[in-house]
Amino acid sequence: MAMTTSQTDTPASAVTLPSHHLLGIEGMDVLTMHRLLDRASYFADNLTNDVEQTLKGQTIVNLFFENSTRTRVSFEVAAKKLGASVLNISVAGSSVKKGETLVDTATTLNAMHPDILVVRHHASGAPQLLAQHIDAAIINAGDGRHEHPTQALLDALTIKRRFGKIEGLRIAICGDITNSRVARSNLYLLGGLGAEVRFVSPSTLLPPAIGDMGVAVYHDMAEGIKDCDIVMMLRLQTERMEGRETPSQHEYFNLFGLDSDKLEAAAPKAMIMHPGPMNRGVEIDSEIADDHERSLIHKQVEMGVAIRMACLEALAVTAAQKRSA
Ligand code: CP
Repeated sequence: MAMTTSQTDTPASAVTLPSHHLLGIEGMDVLTMHRLLDRASYFADNLTNDVEQTLKGQTIVNLFFENSTRTRVSFEVAAKKLGASVLNISVAGSSVKKGETLVDTATTLNAMHPDILVVRHHASGAPQLLAQHIDAAIINAGDGRHEHPTQALLDALTIKRRFGKIEGLRIAICGDITNSRVARSNLYLLGGLGAEVRFVSPSTLLPPAIGDMGVAVYHDMAEGIKDCDIVMMLRLQTERMEGRETPSQHEYFNLFGLDSDKLEAAAPKAMIMHPGPMNRGVEIDSEIADDHERSLIHKQVEMGVAIRMACLEALAVTAAQKRSA
């Protein structure tokens, strides 16, 4: 029987990936997406229980060149729950500050034989570059404006566990699309799983190649979120801006910030998501962000641990299979 986008043919066992790196969602097959979500859902059901120590004896290095709270901590929690040893490299305290290059830093770490490097970097393509130079598996924890694959996977897991499906849902991703690796990864993942994904953004915050991305674009919040099941808000990433993209944060909030009035255009039971960190009063009103009936924001963080458990385990299993082949 042909597989639809909402079916898998296996129980939630450890996943093997097509590659021994996890660099992005683009190009990932639908079956792998489903298997990662199914395995992560098993971990989500057992976050407070003991699970099999499938990463025992493994060393995982968190190499973060950009700030992070959610991603770095949840990778560490995930790795430790599966029995791995975790090292956190602080770039501020490393030889990067003495002028060492990204590749030299990574090959230096590689010489100590870690099993997995979790990499966040401000340059798009940095994890892909490292994957060409080192033996350890690389997992992309967010690279520039390019991709944030585990964020998209945790978003998909949150949605699937809330709605029981992803296929057929209408999902509006709103705000600073140009600078958002989350928007890109979610378009590939949620679109690949059969959701109708829309982008809602001022034209100044859309990438020049938006026409090639195959996504419906709206410049008005009421039109863009109309009848949507999920409204996902994005932070204005001022650290990547040149300063001319929005007239003022106040005006941006009036036009594109989510508040209870604007939310009325969405489906009656629409849920709110945000990858964090949030800027309250800029892209989202506190009343909405803290509405426990409508907001999935804390659930997203919780699902981040489960997804990272599934991804780290998948990389370990894939590397073991590669070694024994
Ligand atoms: N969503 C996300 O990547 O958050 P952090 O920057 O805190 O890791």
